Amino acid sequence: MWCYSLTRRRLLRGALGLTLALGGCAWDTPMSTVVPRSDVAREILHVYGIITWVALGIALLVGIALAWVIVRFRERPGAAALPTQIRGHSLLEIAWTIAPAIVLLVIAIPTIQVIFRTQAAPPRDALQVRVLGRQWWWEFRYPTLEVVTANELHVPAGQPVALTLDGPDVIHSFWVPMLGGKRDVVPGRLNRLIFTAETPGEYRGQCAEFCGVSHANMGMRVIVDAPDAFARWVAAQKAEPAEPAAGPAADGKAIFARSACVGCHTIRGVSSGVLGPDLTTFGSRRTLAAGLLPVTVDTVAAWLKNPTALKPDAKMPPLGLTDEQARAVATYLIGLK
Ligand code: CUA
Repeated sequence: MWCYSLTRRRLLRGALGLTLALGGCAWDTPMSTVVPRSDVAREILHVYGIITWVALGIALLVGIALAWVIVRFRERPGAAALPTQIRGHSLLEIAWTIAPAIVLLVIAIPTIQVIFRTQAAPPRDALQVRVLGRQWWWEFRYPTLEVVTANELHVPAGQPVALTLDGPDVIHSFWVPMLGGKRDVVPGRLNRLIFTAETPGEYRGQCAEFCGVSHANMGMRVIVDAPDAFARWVAAQKAEPAEPAAGPAADGKAIFARSACVGCHTIRGVSSGVLGPDLTTFGSRRTLAAGLLPVTVDTVAAWLKNPTALKPDAKMPPLGLTDEQARAVATYLIGLK
């Protein structure tokens, strides 16, 4: 009875461990690497697939061979202490040199093919976007459209997008698993990532290279729009910001214009700072502080009052605003669409 309950406890513990381990590998998480939604992600998954099946096949062969050896050469009563020992078997040695070489070749050929395909020059109709990784947020510049945004990259479905990645401070890594592989953002070096998103939707991404205290808070979103929705987004981004209505929004604009905000942030027609995100269409964004919080008057006001409380080591200093002033600036910013 004691033995039975111990075995059952072990089984339960094993099942729990397996559940937890598999739970970490859910297929349908927002950052799943096995749910491709672009040509590049599909190519990468294809290589993953080959490697996984080859590795599983080898594991199976090795497992079967090992089981056979364990059973065949187990210690038997009355048998000799050691089975016949083999040394210097040329055929065996050649075989186990060639076999791994063949395995590597099977993996290398499709891998190199995909590397060359994904590094090819972008097609002529590709939408050009310059990606700047900064401590700890993302800037997206569309040179041909004259649009600048932060942390939320909009791209049209079905059109190739050519990202040029660069960074002014330290190394970051652009990673939106459902749309493509990681690409490092290295100061002084232009890396490229070209992909065609297939399905409209919102795709989560994350800086994938340790870049300082708030590395884990350096998220991003790629919003894949249907082509007409993308055209509307571009038009809205280029429109002149509307004058805020009298009341808290207008008060917020006045506070913004006379405070330290203007030293770091651009709002077209109001200020031209370049250290922080361009806020000209801040209200059109879904999230705040590199994907950390949803955009609401409360969260924006909390951010304005004390950025480092929400994002450790954030470069933006507390502005010394009262609650009322912070809410007024938040109302103004959210009204910028
Ligand atoms: Cu940027 Cu990690």
